[in-house]
Amino acid sequence: MNELKAKLQNRNATAAVIGLGYVGLPLAMEIAAAGFKVIGIDLDENKIAFLNQRKSYILDVPEKTIADAISERRFAATTNFAALAEADTVSICVPTPLSKSRDPDISYILSATEEIRKYLHKGQLIVLESTTYPGTTDELIAPELESSGLRIGKDFCVAFSPERIDPGNAKFNTRNTPKIVGGITDTCTETARLFYSQFIERVIPVSSTKCAEMVKLLENTFRSVNIGMVNELALMCDVLGVDVYEVIDAAATKPFGFSPFYPGPGLGGHCIPIDPHYLAWKLKALNFQARFIGLAAEINGMMPSVVSTLVADGLNRFSKSIRGSKIMVLGVAYKKDVSDCRESPALDVMRLLKEKGAILTYNDPFVTTLRLGASILKSVDISPAEIARHDCVIILTDHSSYDFRQIVQAAKLLVDTRNSTKGLQEFKNRIIKLGAGPAVRAKATHEHEHDRAPGLAAH
Ligand SMILES: NC(=O)c1ccc[n+]([C@@H]2O[C@H](COP(=O)([O-])OP(=O)(O)OC[C@H]3O[C@@H](n4cnc5c(N)ncnc54)[C@H](O)[C@@H]3O)[C@@H](O)[C@H]2O)c1
Repeated sequence: MNELKAKLQNRNATAAVIGLGYVGLPLAMEIAAAGFKVIGIDLDENKIAFLNQRKSYILDVPEKTIADAISERRFAATTNFAALAEADTVSICVPTPLSKSRDPDISYILSATEEIRKYLHKGQLIVLESTTYPGTTDELIAPELESSGLRIGKDFCVAFSPERIDPGNAKFNTRNTPKIVGGITDTCTETARLFYSQFIERVIPVSSTKCAEMVKLLENTFRSVNIGMVNELALMCDVLGVDVYEVIDAAATKPFGFSPFYPGPGLGGHCIPIDPHYLAWKLKALNFQARFIGLAAEINGMMPSVVSTLVADGLNRFSKSIRGSKIMVLGVAYKKDVSDCRESPALDVMRLLKEKGAILTYNDPFVTTLRLGASILKSVDISPAEIARHDCVIILTDHSSYDFRQIVQAAKLLVDTRNSTKGLQEFKNRIIKLGAGPAVRAKATHEHEHDRAPGLAAH
């Protein structure tokens, strides 16, 4: 392994990245920027064609970064796994979704590992970055690779290093987000640490692959449980007639022992709604029930239906029903300033409203078309006239480009699930805010009789 360590230190190693999505492409670019030669491998021919035309499909990766890396021969993209024959390191960044029965689907990891095994050679470092259940690296990847006859820690190294990228985050990126590494042996951990420390500012070794896998699941379970807790708090505030955001913001002034989380229309993305199920699934197989995970999933899963009730409540003010009402959704990506709609709660909210007979449109500056069941919707403009044409507008994702004052000014009725209308008190009578309580809303309804937004007549 000494030869590999020297190559890593001198940055003349060749690094392969398997899976060039939200995680793999930024990682590949960061490794290339450190001077390594990088081979990007993906099954998706469209992505490879895009990259070879020096185009980007990930908002956080500028086209110039790709163009420069290709021109300087620091990056090449291919669908051909034979390129692994010349790779000194291999980072696996493939998806880890849930199956239809909501069990872990690790088929992508297994198929990538089979390809790696075909080209495995002495002096290689293999790192799994995909989020998965504790034990995957040790129990599945290691035996498959050792079936080649080569030995881990002696002939080649295997480690797990969870990806922590936060798409759309302007402050933290691959380089400045500390990276956890855990190897099968101490040599594996040290080799992985050496590799990542070439292009990541801070690398934290842990004692095993299982510990590194568990770190990632703690981080994402922590978020899921806290969001579930605060979503339940929003429902409690609804009952009590207290504004949940005022409560959270006041609690957040405590300088220790409190971290603010905010309610919303539900969980989305490829991580928080999925990863805790990987942990719960593994524990279930060991006869242990992960109760917090189950409860958080239940509460977070209720939120789209809570939003549809808010819409019904709002329309009710005007003696209208969801059926036949023109409803515009603002923001369908799972979080602000990204285009990723995977698991987005907007899809559930829209499906529920459609089932109830709403006439739906949406706007999202990052998502030009959206598949909803059998229909394909196109993002509409959000001119004041277009907004005013609708009976109700719902803010589901608070993209930075939205001018919420202008939106609320034009809307007849606005359901706000992100506290985007904070500070727009003068329009409170046409706003229904998640967690602001029926008592708060009823007061607004009462006042609303005296200050009706223009143009909403009953059906
Ligand atoms: N998206 C995030 O914010 C994020 C953050 C941290 C961790 N993760 C984890 O990282 C992993 C990857 O997530 P992502 O969001 O980048 O997924 P993605 O779907 O954006 O990208 C995965 C890529 O892998 C390719 N692929 C699938 N199977 C392949 C195979 N056998 N060989 C080669 N390529 C293959 C797909 O075509 C796709 O381009 C997941 O485990 C996810 O949980 C994601």
